[in-house]
Amino acid sequence: MKITASADPAVQHATQALAVGLFETTEWVPTGPLADLNSALADEIGAVIAEGDFRAKKNETLVLYTQGRLAARRVILVGLGKAEQLSLDSIRQAAATAATKARDLGLSELSVLMFGHDREGIGTDKAAEAIAEGAALGSYAFRELKTEDTNVRPAIERLVVVAPGAPAPGTIEMSLRIGNVIAESTIVARDLINRPANIATPSHIVAAAQDIAAGTGLECHVLDKAKMASLGMGLLLSVNQGGNEPAQMIILEHNADRTDLPCVALVGKGITFDTGGISLKPAQGMEAMKGDMGGAAAVLGAMRAVALLGLPLRVLGLAPVTENMPDAQATRPGDVVRSLKGLTVEIISTDAEGRMILADALTYSGKYQPDAIFDIATLTGSRIIALGDHAAAVMGNDDLITRLTAAGEATGERVWPLPLFEAYGEQLKSEVADLRNVGGREAGSITGGFFLSRFVPENTPWVHIDIAGLSLTEKATPYVPKGGTGFGVRLFVEMLRHWKANA
Ligand code: BES
Ligand code: MN
Ligand code: ZN
Repeated sequence: MKITASADPAVQHATQALAVGLFETTEWVPTGPLADLNSALADEIGAVIAEGDFRAKKNETLVLYTQGRLAARRVILVGLGKAEQLSLDSIRQAAATAATKARDLGLSELSVLMFGHDREGIGTDKAAEAIAEGAALGSYAFRELKTEDTNVRPAIERLVVVAPGAPAPGTIEMSLRIGNVIAESTIVARDLINRPANIATPSHIVAAAQDIAAGTGLECHVLDKAKMASLGMGLLLSVNQGGNEPAQMIILEHNADRTDLPCVALVGKGITFDTGGISLKPAQGMEAMKGDMGGAAAVLGAMRAVALLGLPLRVLGLAPVTENMPDAQATRPGDVVRSLKGLTVEIISTDAEGRMILADALTYSGKYQPDAIFDIATLTGSRIIALGDHAAAVMGNDDLITRLTAAGEATGERVWPLPLFEAYGEQLKSEVADLRNVGGREAGSITGGFFLSRFVPENTPWVHIDIAGLSLTEKATPYVPKGGTGFGVRLFVEMLRHWKANA
């Protein structure tokens, strides 16, 4: 989406539609540009409020036709809810609601009168960024596999943020660009998640990573199956055994040669389809397992944004990619395989495959001696049972969890901690190998995290983020439509933008 700023007086701004955010109040007293608009409209905004036809509840909309009284053809009123409750998230939601409304009206452009900037604790930069991000994210629809025109109209092409008399127009443009980069990077992840597994194969994900690298200046290396075999990545390769497409390991690097900078590694689970393998999943709902590469998608999207924003950090993105298929060649329950770390693992369930590929990727990340490691994965169904739709589960280093928690509050991609008490390790004891890959039904998300903890490079702070059920969703919110959400992209980028300040 093309996003620009304008310093036009609101009344004189020519556009197909001007979105105007309004707070819910008992007595509406317009000031500034709102007063100008309302008087040009002969108090029509005042009238729809007085009649109770528009109450400015969160994400409520009403379209007014200006009939030549303004340079804008339409005014889209958007409810912001109560002024004292305004947050970055409600700004993103309102901008998304306006963009969706404009799209549904069949428009190709939308202007938004700047809002939220005068609230304490928000300010112009953050408000502008949230408007751009929300509008771009809310306009997203996955249409590439539809040959016929659908009831989903094409997204608006142009967004103009109107900030009359803005103190420094340049800074608004910078914020709009940041918001747009973050949204477009999230959309890169959403597209990868939404693409079915016959299209988004391991080699497709690799090609996407190479495209991102070509467009941003990131370094990209790929380990092929032969290389992984020679290194000894037995856990990763055991998952790949049942499929036809070879496993690959994507390595993206930002500021690769800047060993003077702090180095953060992001590791994402890239199972392009999870059948469960020989421990086959039930057929019902299995199609959702095309989204089992949501962790890898989040890492690719975050790396794209990190590069385009030029963050002053060294950032490493790792994504092991493979299918998990049943076959005569597939790994069997009871098989014992040897990890890159050297530990042997008894495979109790071939459906606990995410931890297998991540274990070897975590160990491999140690080669770069990162200062912190985050893995992100659609790892366990029990994450959904424990926390539902409103928080990813996080386990590991407290300082890193604090950073993620702050980023989660700012982005709306919230996280909540689970413990990794040593006692949980009992559940992963094996009679025949060093450990087993499942720990029973109890505390399923924790035993998944505990398994991973055994493969983290020595003395390296690490956090595991379980996003099962959050990466691909059935429930839409204003700026997160159904399907692939890109959960994790905005969370990581926000955390990394503040990395040094929080050191
Ligand atoms: N990919 C699944 C987890 C999942 C479930 C993601 C629902 C998204 C939605 C993972 O590979 C898996 O199968 N986990 C098992 C682990 C068990 C065998 C220990 C699970 O959660 O049942
Ligand atoms: Mn599985
Ligand atoms: Zn899986």
